[in-house]
Amino acid sequence: MTVHLVGAGPGDPGLITVRGLELIRRCEAIVYDDLVSDELVDEAPADALRISRRGMKQAAVNDLIVELGLQGLDVVRLKGGDPFVFGRGGEEALVLAAAGIEFDVVAGVSAMASVPGSFLIPITHRGVSAQVTLVSGQSAFGDDLPLETLAKAPGTLVVFMGLGRLDAVAAGLITHGRDASTPAAVISNGTLPNEKIVTGTLRDIAARAATEDLPSPALFVVGDVIAVGDYVESVRVSNRPGVAAS
Ligand SMILES: C[S@@+](CC[C@H](N)C(=O)[O-])C[C@H]1O[C@@H](n2cnc3c(N)ncnc32)[C@H](O)[C@@H]1O
Repeated sequence: MTVHLVGAGPGDPGLITVRGLELIRRCEAIVYDDLVSDELVDEAPADALRISRRGMKQAAVNDLIVELGLQGLDVVRLKGGDPFVFGRGGEEALVLAAAGIEFDVVAGVSAMASVPGSFLIPITHRGVSAQVTLVSGQSAFGDDLPLETLAKAPGTLVVFMGLGRLDAVAAGLITHGRDASTPAAVISNGTLPNEKIVTGTLRDIAARAATEDLPSPALFVVGDVIAVGDYVESVRVSNRPGVAAS
């Protein structure tokens, strides 16, 4: 008789938590996001109510989970990544709390570090980046992303939901003082078999990504840590048995 706000992880179904999977396996209803893997939804009991939130506005999702909670069902609200990182989990927790419904939150693996990590890019690295700034390309800022502030923030910048605004964001960062040669990457479908990365610099990343026609979901990462990923990969390759040292 609880609504569980569960993080499904970034895409690879193996990246859900043990607790999250257990809750899915014994739920009576599951309400799931578009980005969530079908394999996880299939883990729900055969007689569980399955509801995709595709096409539903957030207000309708809020009403739905309250309604299912009031019916006394054990509900999993399965959300992409972590519920509390650009996941509107806070809003869902608030409506459940206001309606007096018992609920809990089960953390998930956010795309934030796991998606760059899938390409060996650490979002922090000693001596390279000791600070990470997360921003949504479609945030409450609307068209007014605080590009001046973002350009001045040291370390790594991770832009969620920014694929449609790559050009504007990259150009704006340069205009406000970020070096045009700063490494940048766009990573699409990270952790999934069809994951893809395009790397470049702030100057050319939008054009490079456009030629690859990368699909959503995608993360835009800016900072010197991208070069660390390339370096780790080159060391790994050169240390493979049978690869002659150069
Ligand atoms: C609504 S936000 C949800 C973020 C989620 N709560 C989290 O913690 O990762 C969706 C955005 O997350 C990013 N994202 C999520 N999964 C991704 C993946 N597998 N590869 C690349 N980006 C991803 C994209 O920027 C996408 O537009």
